[in-house]
Amino acid sequence: MGPEVLRPCLLLLWIWVCALPAGSVLPSEISKAEMTRMFKDFMIQFNRTYRNPAEQRRRFGIFTRSLLTAQWLQETELGTGQYGVTRFSDWTDEEFQGMVRSSPPPTMHQASRLPRKKLPPSCDWRKAGAVTAVKDQGKKCNSCWAFAAVANIESLWNIHFHQPRNLSVQEVLDCSWCGAGCKGGYVWDAFTTVLQRSGLTSEDAYPYTGRQKTCRNLSEPAAYIQGFQTLPGDEEEIAAHIATKGPITVTLNSAAMKHYKKGISQPLVKSCSPDHVDHVVLLVGYGHAEKRRYWIIKNSWGEGWGEKGYYRLYRGRNTCGITMFPITATVTRVGSPGHEVHCPT
Ligand SMILES: *[C@@H]1O[C@H](CO)[C@@H](O)[C@H](O)[C@H]1NC(C)=O
Ligand SMILES: *[C@@H]1O[C@H](CO)[C@@H](O)[C@H](O)[C@H]1NC(C)=O
Ligand SMILES: *[C@@H]1O[C@H](CO)[C@@H](O)[C@H](O)[C@H]1NC(C)=O
Repeated sequence: MGPEVLRPCLLLLWIWVCALPAGSVLPSEISKAEMTRMFKDFMIQFNRTYRNPAEQRRRFGIFTRSLLTAQWLQETELGTGQYGVTRFSDWTDEEFQGMVRSSPPPTMHQASRLPRKKLPPSCDWRKAGAVTAVKDQGKKCNSCWAFAAVANIESLWNIHFHQPRNLSVQEVLDCSWCGAGCKGGYVWDAFTTVLQRSGLTSEDAYPYTGRQKTCRNLSEPAAYIQGFQTLPGDEEEIAAHIATKGPITVTLNSAAMKHYKKGISQPLVKSCSPDHVDHVVLLVGYGHAEKRRYWIIKNSWGEGWGEKGYYRLYRGRNTCGITMFPITATVTRVGSPGHEVHCPT
């Protein structure tokens, strides 16, 4: 691998995104007294204590602005998404997403377009038992890129070998080639790391601690990959890939996710710019309901966030920049390359 591969490592993705919420849906107008009551409830529900009264006032101000943002998202929502108090409600936008700039992954592994066929109307790999439980990356570590990459490998491994596996996110964090760890990183760096280490250990053998530590070399990989590829940034192509190969990782703008409770989220472009992607997740399928097409997204903020840890996002208009960097590992069984798999509808 030449220096052109290393260079993107230097432009780190700072993803201050990664944690977990739950809470109430907003009333349409909130008085000061009501806001104070909601803040008190929030402090109890999310176990908040602040250093001093000044800090508490500052956090109350942030909380108020968050709720106004959630209210704006609710009023301008084009889909059925619902927004409100979440565990991020007292976080500033800088705390939530202090991203610098993302640079594209190396272009050498570009996948070719799939032949155009009629796609199944829906696809949900969870129904095949091919998606592991939703994990929680914790509040202090921007490791969504590692969680999404590992979840991608877990699902592909399950689809091709019918073996459920929880794989080690910590190994990716500790041993990643770029070494960014909890400061945020790249999915392709996670895959490069797994390739260089000839596989990935199980979660049980190398458990998640939420902090970057010294890389350990354990002998027994629990799964391995053949390579990875970036996919064309086109939602039809992405759906075709998911239906015929399995879940993939995508990078998107998490602005609406900060306040998301449930439903099919479809924020205005100006509320969720497709040019500012800052969070990495796993697309595990797609569907449609109430005449709306959506993506099914596995997040890494625990089961308490969103729809039991999942997010449904409008599909078809590059909402929140979901087509920016679709990328997936490749897992094939020796002796059966090109083996077709079918996603449950
Ligand atoms: C609440 O926070 C305090 C201090 O941060 C911690 O000691 C305690 O265990 C937390 N309680 C719960 C239920 O999370
Ligand atoms: C994976 O971890 C989850 C908890 O996160 C657990 O319920 C499940 O049984 C584990 N699966 C395997 C195959 O170890
Ligand atoms: C782990 O293995 C790599 C490559 O095989 C080696 O460079 C590194 O020093 C090893 N680390 C430890 C802690 O043994």
